[in-house]
Amino acid sequence: MWESDADLLARVDKSKLPRHVAIIMDGNGRWANGRGLLRNAGHTAGVKTLKKILQTAVNLKLEALTVYAFSTENWKRPHTEVEFLMHLFSDYLEREKREMHENNVRIKFLGRTEDFSPALQKLMRDSAELMKNNTGVKFNVAADYGGQDEIVRVARKLARQAAAGELSPEDISAQIFADELDTAGQPPVDLLIRTSGEMRLSNFLLWQTAYAEFWFTDTPWPEFTPEQFVDALIDFGNRSRRFGALN
Ligand code: IPE
Ligand code: IPE
Ligand code: MG
Repeated sequence: MWESDADLLARVDKSKLPRHVAIIMDGNGRWANGRGLLRNAGHTAGVKTLKKILQTAVNLKLEALTVYAFSTENWKRPHTEVEFLMHLFSDYLEREKREMHENNVRIKFLGRTEDFSPALQKLMRDSAELMKNNTGVKFNVAADYGGQDEIVRVARKLARQAAAGELSPEDISAQIFADELDTAGQPPVDLLIRTSGEMRLSNFLLWQTAYAEFWFTDTPWPEFTPEQFVDALIDFGNRSRRFGALN
């Protein structure tokens, strides 16, 4: 077990935990600028936060944790920042994969991969392969991910099957669709957290958040703590989810 604060974990009622938590790790750049640092220093600090939050998720035995690392829109940023993020991402995987594996984490990547360098693609494939039989936290890293892109990819695949006569359009159901998403086989998102005060989805998990509870904080991602993560989980446990019915 990774280092953890037993008092913190004890605050959580395990029977009320969400099965799947998704996080939009936002505010790295503004956090850095506010301290007179370059935006990239914010991304470096953000990786440290991610490590702590994953540790907490492991210690709480959360079923699934999905984090937004790079969106299909983030390619619009300056080349130098994109390059920095790619390096940070590969350093992180290279450095952490062994320890994640020892902690029974099963990493998976959501999104497109073809525009990443061949070396990064290989590292992603190797990390996923290394951990594929692990039974602990399902840790999804959304990289070059966009919810619309994901839905379009599924639509194309099903359309191809229909055109080939392998699938009747009438047989397409929400379940068949979900089974083709990058998150196939995982529960829908129960709780979505976004840091840094923005209150939007920014093209994250559009399908999977259909009935998610939302939790926002002004805290920028580099300052987000396991305590706040636990606050969000406790808050979730106190919500009344009706799914359109009455209670
Ligand atoms: C989130 O922080 C990290 C990524 C999008 C990769 P930002 O880089 O969006 O930071 P802000 O929102 O500009 O402060
Ligand atoms: C969303 O944050 C993407 C990630 C956190 C990776 P952005 O900072 O890119 O989103 P917008 O531009 O504020 O909507
Ligand atoms: Mg941002």
